[in-house]
Amino acid sequence: MYGVIFDFLRDYVIEHHGGKPTWETLLKASGQSVHKIYFPVTEYPDEEIVAIAKIAAEALSLPLPAVLEDFGIYTGKKLMTFYHMYVADNRWKTFDIIEHAGKSIHHYVHKHNPMRKPPQLTGERVSENELIIHYHSARMMCPVVKGIVQGLARHFGEDFTIEETQCMYHGAKECTFRVTRKLH
Ligand code: HEM
Repeated sequence: MYGVIFDFLRDYVIEHHGGKPTWETLLKASGQSVHKIYFPVTEYPDEEIVAIAKIAAEALSLPLPAVLEDFGIYTGKKLMTFYHMYVADNRWKTFDIIEHAGKSIHHYVHKHNPMRKPPQLTGERVSENELIIHYHSARMMCPVVKGIVQGLARHFGEDFTIEETQCMYHGAKECTFRVTRKLH
């Protein structure tokens, strides 16, 4: 996984879970140097980020999926400022970002790196108010997907119900989510 995702995780821990000392504790507990720096476009083993997230979940006495989802919420908001250059149209909102992430954005990001392994993500627009997300990745980070959708929604001031209708953790070959706009 790219260092940029570790950077997002570090910022999330620092902003939401007790600052730099917590981040250093997590690094140490996962067997890394407390001074470890993740360079954004360098590839790091997936196991490192999973180890950090697992230790964080234990320390917070929360299930790992809940921590990953919360990190996803943070990431969804952050993507829109950090990666604003990939938002080709300023009318895009949550559904458009998801559709374009699947069709092009993940492939553009670090396209020169043959090692990259972006997730397979498809947004299938059922209607103006409903989108089906198909997600497949060997990393099986569906809680992050759920969180990113919520983070994007908060960023754009939208409100959705998100239901995971099938999941790789329960034997499905991909995860699917039904995202329905709440009509007030
Ligand atoms: C501006 C939009 C986006 C950008 C720039 C972006 C960028 C990235 C980058 C750089 C990675 C790391 C890939 C790697 O290390 O190989 C990544 C991973 C990931 N992205 Fe995105 N992303 C965007 C939107 C989304 C959206 C909308 C979703 C889901 C709703 C999503 C879900 C994920 C997930 C779950 C991963 C973890 C890796 C995996 O599952 O294999 N991303 N993204």
